[in-house]
Amino acid sequence: MSEVAPAEIREICTNYHHDATRLLDILRAVQARYGYVSSRAIDLLGSELRIPRIEVHSTLSFYAFLSGKPSGRVVIRLCNGVIDEMAGSENVAAALCDELGIQVGQTTPDGLISLQRTSCIGMCDQAPAALINDVVVTELTTDRAREIVRELRRHADPKKLIHRLGDGNNAHQLVQAMVKNNIRREGPIIFSPINRGEALSKALAMTPAEVIRAVKTARLRGRGGAGFPCGLKWEFARAAGGDQRYVICNADEGEPGTFKDRVILTERPDRVFAGMTIAGYAIGASDGILYLRGEYAYLQRYLEHVLEKRRQDGLLGNNIFGRGFNFDIRIQLGAGAYVCGEETGLISSCEGRRGDPKNRPPFPAQKGYLGRPTIVNNVETLACVTKILEIGSAAFCEYGTQGSTGTKLLSISGDCTRPGVYEVPFGLTVTEMLEMVGGQDAIAVQVGGASGQMIGPQEFNRKICFDDLATGGSIMIFGPQRNLLHIVERFLDFFIEESCGYCTPCRVGNVLLRERIHRILDGRGEPEDLSYLQELAETVKLASRCGLGQTSPNPVLSSLKNFRPMYTAAVKESSNGLRRSFNLASAVRLAETITGRKSTAEHV
Ligand SMILES: Cc1cc2nc3c(=O)[nH]c(=O)nc-3n(C[C@H](O)[C@H](O)[C@H](O)COP(=O)(O)O)c2cc1C
Ligand code: SF4
Repeated sequence: MSEVAPAEIREICTNYHHDATRLLDILRAVQARYGYVSSRAIDLLGSELRIPRIEVHSTLSFYAFLSGKPSGRVVIRLCNGVIDEMAGSENVAAALCDELGIQVGQTTPDGLISLQRTSCIGMCDQAPAALINDVVVTELTTDRAREIVRELRRHADPKKLIHRLGDGNNAHQLVQAMVKNNIRREGPIIFSPINRGEALSKALAMTPAEVIRAVKTARLRGRGGAGFPCGLKWEFARAAGGDQRYVICNADEGEPGTFKDRVILTERPDRVFAGMTIAGYAIGASDGILYLRGEYAYLQRYLEHVLEKRRQDGLLGNNIFGRGFNFDIRIQLGAGAYVCGEETGLISSCEGRRGDPKNRPPFPAQKGYLGRPTIVNNVETLACVTKILEIGSAAFCEYGTQGSTGTKLLSISGDCTRPGVYEVPFGLTVTEMLEMVGGQDAIAVQVGGASGQMIGPQEFNRKICFDDLATGGSIMIFGPQRNLLHIVERFLDFFIEESCGYCTPCRVGNVLLRERIHRILDGRGEPEDLSYLQELAETVKLASRCGLGQTSPNPVLSSLKNFRPMYTAAVKESSNGLRRSFNLASAVRLAETITGRKSTAEHV
């Protein structure tokens, strides 16, 4: 790695107009140039951007993909998700370690390759997967892992690892990824063919209030998880004062098991960008941001190209369709932080800061990006908006149920024969879903990602929709060979890793929950552990500041409710009256260290 050159740092800052709100992009650019962001680079950035050094450091230290320490020229980030584990990622990790001669978290002595684990990268339908710098490699085997290391030692170029391209636009010259779309069912809303200008032209012929009314009449609910009525959110933003408002499209897609936004952006980006533009017209905004998770950086050049084409065709930029409406979109790349999917964290991240969630109110629709009214909508929600304008609200309402209109994209993975993306009308039962994907022998289904509900066969007659089983799109299927307690523990691992650490219930509570689950898994559980888990999980839900902590105990609570016999069998009273959780050897270890002699513990 070369020495930091002040002129180069200045040039990078100049590319972003010395705008400190673009710090995340600037840090990414510095890291791309030098491999990491050194202490000297932090000093230079602080003085170039006229912000305190601590602010630069604060942002740098928040994101998993940014580093203040040197790492290898090539960084292999192996996905740590539970679905990847089920598909053999532990063996792949062992093969990588063996071939590289290092452990996870280390760099080869020649400084060429670092090996790390990372949270779900959105490839559960083609697991095990890894990111190698920005290049996605999927369907890894131990043999392929060894070959990858050998190839990288030869050319150190992750792009050359792609020997076959994925389907659809994954093969586009600006994408060139081995990622597969795995679209198993195309429905009438999201994946239907698109006429790029139709919806926008219809919207611009209406008043903004009429556009909002159309979205409200379609009863469109947000597809990002919470299901908030889209038209109402827009109305709040339009009603908020001020001269500038913003539209943000949330493509952070970090919930384990979710990968449908990746496929929409690959195959129907125009439908999303048109939705953002219509939203801008409706609320009175002239700027939009697509927040693209860092894991999907491989799509960035292609999406920039789609935006540029829209500008050339008069669908974006100044005086759209000659109707005096100006709107443009920039892409903000994330850097590996699940909590940035939470809308207030997302906004901070777009402002170049740490992605810590904020207290609400004020809600983003009142005070969001740069303190201005802002709407944050999911990729799929905005794609639905475009379709509503294309076909009309009444036609949209013909799909789905009374409370959940339209279709839903499900990203389905785990123990089934046909994992992938399915566009289905709301109201499908879990049994129907399992038949559709070849997962009939499931013993449990996790609906709504790690933060969702774990349900058993007695609930497979329930419907997938907002009024019953809500999901942002993630469905993970577990067959009879799986240990559900282990899966609960792995979900807690995820939340512990991704918590921003601001509030104690989330930062500490999830660790305590995991400890207790681990103890039960280890055969040391006591019957009272179940009430402990229940109470602690409820406390974490209640006392956490943001949606991450408020939903992280869901796997514990739903599995306690739906798989009670599994827990009670694991925490039976011990027959000799001794507490199974008490480990005498470890209890006397400290005393042994202090006194310098062995106690009787070993003989007990
Ligand atoms: C920890 C956390 C992560 C989230 N991640 C996402 C995400 O990746 N994509 C998303 O659209 N919404 C995500 N959300 C929900 C957003 O905060 C927000 O509600 C959503 O983007 C609103 O869009 P919608 O109304 O169109 O659904 C997340 C929420 C939390 C608490
Ligand atoms: S609940 Fe967790 S992620 Fe949310 S603010 Fe608190 S510590 Fe951060």
